[in-house]
Amino acid sequence: MAHAPVTFRLHRGAAAVESIASADLAPWIAAERRPPPADRPWMLVNMIASLDGAVAVDGLSGGLGGPADKEMFRALRGVADAIVVGAGTARAENYGPPIVSDEIRLQRQGRGQADVPQMAIVTRSARLDPSARVFTPGSPRPLLYAAATADPDRVDALRAVAEVVVAGDDGVDPVRMTADLAERGHRTVLAEGGASLNADLLAAGVVDEFCLSVAPLIVGGTAGRVVKGDLDRVRAVHLDRMIEADGMVFLRYVSASE
Ligand SMILES: NC(=O)c1ccc[n+]([C@@H]2O[C@H](COP(=O)([O-])OP(=O)(O)OC[C@H]3O[C@@H](n4cnc5c(N)ncnc54)[C@H](OP(=O)(O)O)[C@@H]3O)[C@@H](O)[C@H]2O)c1
Repeated sequence: MAHAPVTFRLHRGAAAVESIASADLAPWIAAERRPPPADRPWMLVNMIASLDGAVAVDGLSGGLGGPADKEMFRALRGVADAIVVGAGTARAENYGPPIVSDEIRLQRQGRGQADVPQMAIVTRSARLDPSARVFTPGSPRPLLYAAATADPDRVDALRAVAEVVVAGDDGVDPVRMTADLAERGHRTVLAEGGASLNADLLAAGVVDEFCLSVAPLIVGGTAGRVVKGDLDRVRAVHLDRMIEADGMVFLRYVSASE
């Protein structure tokens, strides 16, 4: 069957339609449309992958990034009321409490947001070390979304350093988790992976936006992809915009219902 005519658009160097200065990136990203649905926050996933689809080099995503990606990462964190991360990523990347620059803090205050996003870790097993960097004493207590089947002794130990929310039986139910985040007043939530948490969020239908930084690197090896897990069906998404800097391409896709 014949399909509708396709328009091919050229994005090349000087042909860029708009340049965004570094200092303007965070407010530019924050001005993008992110209306929260009625029963949960707007959920934005942000991942980085190499040209050949690897999400890590030697087990860490840091080997894929560069200065431009770091700025985009900070800008996206800047819009978030909460940052959700799978325990596998928190452990692998030795997550710490979120930090924002003075400029972004002022921008957040101007939008009526808390100074820093609230951290939330998702775990089935509660296999997290209470002395891990993300639980640094004196920093805001993270939320810990846990399954009811998590080891009770581990959960008790983590209650001293985190606010534990049981949000599912043998796994955290993203619908229950996002409803809880909404009850806390969070309107925009950033999910920073990893791939298995992303799959669960997508399968539950709670992802509104998927941002992907494509790094100009070919990594090879067996590193995983940005989503790993079964979905009940293939999800169609719309390309909202692409930005390029230093050969890195920043794609923003929104869900087809948006
Ligand atoms: N390129 C990127 O942008 C990017 C981003 C993030 C991570 N990464 C890389 O990805 C790797 C980590 O991947 P991963 O698959 O381990 O990631 P992950 O999804 O962060 O971790 C999986 C773990 O998260 C918890 N989890 C996820 N979904 C859950 C649910 N619905 N309910 C309860 N717990 C849930 C479980 O924790 P428990 O084991 O505690 O039960 C599970 O074992 C690292 O190499 C990291 O560097 C790359």
